[in-house]
Amino acid sequence: MTKKRLWITRRLSDATLERAARDYEVVINHDDTPGTAEDIIAASAEFDAIIPCHSEHFSADVVAQLDPRLKILANHSVGVDHCDLPALAARGITVTNTPDVLSDATAELAMLLMLGAARHAVAGDRLVRTGGWDSWSPAFMVGKQVTGARVGIIGMGRVGRSFAAKARGFDMDVHYYNRSELSADLAQGATYHSTIESLLGVADFLSLHCPATPETTDLMNSERFAMLPPGAVVVNTARGALIDEDALMAALDRGHVVAAGLDCFKVEPGGNPALSLYDNVFMLPHIGSATRTTRDAMGFRALDNLDAFFAGQTPQDQL
Ligand code: DGY
Repeated sequence: MTKKRLWITRRLSDATLERAARDYEVVINHDDTPGTAEDIIAASAEFDAIIPCHSEHFSADVVAQLDPRLKILANHSVGVDHCDLPALAARGITVTNTPDVLSDATAELAMLLMLGAARHAVAGDRLVRTGGWDSWSPAFMVGKQVTGARVGIIGMGRVGRSFAAKARGFDMDVHYYNRSELSADLAQGATYHSTIESLLGVADFLSLHCPATPETTDLMNSERFAMLPPGAVVVNTARGALIDEDALMAALDRGHVVAAGLDCFKVEPGGNPALSLYDNVFMLPHIGSATRTTRDAMGFRALDNLDAFFAGQTPQDQL
């Protein structure tokens, strides 16, 4: 049987690329540069399937220009805000994502950011690294204790629940907002808040785990930052769109928010240069899911979805 033609837009894990090359006639973008609109439109005439990352944007305009040859986008990401899903559905293009497999890696990174932000990781590292550490005092670099503190989670899906499990390991008092209340076995004792506003009032630490949608754009704005308890720490490993970065900086300037840990920014790659002026903001370059284990699992999940589709089945992660 002739193999289906597959375009892989970025350098995925070796194991993923080997499996893809075994089962598909695959073209890999070894340059590892993001696919442009022109690349995507041209590829749609040559390939039956694409495995994109969140770096390739399937806007309505791009989707309108796709060739009918392209049948499926098997995303190598859980987030699909780079895809105009209604436009793709209207063109009859199947879209899948990679849920579950990156939850622990992303939740680990949220813990790292929470701990690092709370305990002066940026300023402390810089001080030691630059040889500027010349004294010590009990009043020196005093941070905010995580153990036993209240943490608010917005979005109690798979990543949010994995983060909650890790936070419980630090004896944190877990509160959450979600579109619907979880069953007791999923909530594991976490306290449900039916509104974001109610959650913010108790969120000494706040961690965002919801998708970027038109409804969640600037979910954390000036009014909502002001609803946090004074001295709150804010963590975002979900999407940059969720935070109004100017409002965050204003809250940091007032000292109302004492620190933030960010893996996602409004502008990616690059981030926000204004945020780099804040030593109390611990920043990473969108690497929540970047562990070897998880990269293999994401690649295999994307390929599982493709295999199912071309076998005439409904892929397990079809959106
Ligand atoms: C995801 O899977 O959505 C991560 O942000 C990496 O793309």
